[in-house]
Amino acid sequence: MKNILVTGGCGFIGSNFIRYLLSESDFNGRVINVDRLTYAGNPENLAGIDTNKDRYVFVKADICDRIAMSEVFDSFQIDTICHFAAESHVDRSIAEPDAFINTNINGTFNLLELARQDMHRLELFHHVSTDEVYGSLGRDGYFTETTAYDPSSPYSASKAASDHLAMAYSRTYGMPITLSNCSNNYGPYHFPEKLIPLMILNALEEKPLPVYGNGQNVRDWLFVRDHCRAVWLIMQKGRRGETYNVGGRCEMTNLSVVELICDIMDEIVPTAAGSRRNLITFVKDRPGHDLRYAIDCGKIEKELGWLPEESFETGIRKTIHWYLEHRDWVTRIKTGAYLEWIESHYQM
Ligand code: NAD
Ligand code: TYD
Repeated sequence: MKNILVTGGCGFIGSNFIRYLLSESDFNGRVINVDRLTYAGNPENLAGIDTNKDRYVFVKADICDRIAMSEVFDSFQIDTICHFAAESHVDRSIAEPDAFINTNINGTFNLLELARQDMHRLELFHHVSTDEVYGSLGRDGYFTETTAYDPSSPYSASKAASDHLAMAYSRTYGMPITLSNCSNNYGPYHFPEKLIPLMILNALEEKPLPVYGNGQNVRDWLFVRDHCRAVWLIMQKGRRGETYNVGGRCEMTNLSVVELICDIMDEIVPTAAGSRRNLITFVKDRPGHDLRYAIDCGKIEKELGWLPEESFETGIRKTIHWYLEHRDWVTRIKTGAYLEWIESHYQM
């Protein structure tokens, strides 16, 4: 792997992955980061990385644009793809599904076609996906790699379609493809529309903490660096044509996540107003809200020896400290100032 195309590298997980590749892993080739810079893409997420052109190149492009992407494949002699780019927020997919279909399905199809045209050079196409494709669990059981797909939201349905395309290209054309389905990530650079950063920032400002329904929906939480380690390990050692589930072994109800954030925030940034738990506000439930996600990650543990390093208690403390120490980043995200910066630099 000499020239890795990372799509969506200015988003939450993509930027953490590029940081991991360039500064923590044994990878010594070049990263070509292609990102359209939607509202969720922020080049500032990569501030301070090694920008030597032999190590890192940024191209602002839409993965749905066949001509622009073809130029990227040719100019940079792409031999490996790690595909993160997506519309990723479930609530947005319920309100406005169009972009989810375009980017997540058509964009993935586009990349697969371009990779197929360059089969002679292709070492690997790794497709990053979600456990949400499996739908909802009841109180018991776990998702395995053989659980039938049963997506509930336009987001998870679009990811399911892209997963099927990736696996179909592996079987039909014999392309070297791997797939990972992981649980809810959290950590630095998480866009504050998602549960954990939203709660940290609202708790800091002592604003209401909106919990959907009764707060008893369960998610499995995975620290983003552990996810990046898993993706790189699968890319290096995972069996081609296989799917790997990745989870944090950390199931929690939404209410207990929010309560823990309140308690840690009270400890680190005490408030005269008393416990931040008083800010918790139960609001109207999300339509089609999946009750529970839980991952059996026995396959990646046994085959590749991967284990999460972070517990929720340690990971959430690191995350809270990161948000407290990056107030300028938060201000630019919350005011939209980062979008103005992107516009002036990239003529959107
Ligand atoms: P994100 O929304 O933070 O970032 C997505 C990035 O993709 C942004 O930088 C955006 O600008 C870029 N992008 C969007 N449309 C594009 C297009 N048409 N062309 C080029 N770039 C485009 O998302 P994330 O949370 O970092 O998720 C990354 C991947 O991981 C997604 O595929 C998502 O489905 C998957 N995933 C995320 C989670 C999670 O908890 N966040 C969990 C499981 C799987
Ligand atoms: P989210 O971070 O949007 O991730 P996903 O929908 O992909 O799991 O939401 C995580 C959980 O938190 C989900 O069950 C919905 C819930 N939630 C709230 O209760 N309040 C909120 O304000 C948000 C954004 C999410």
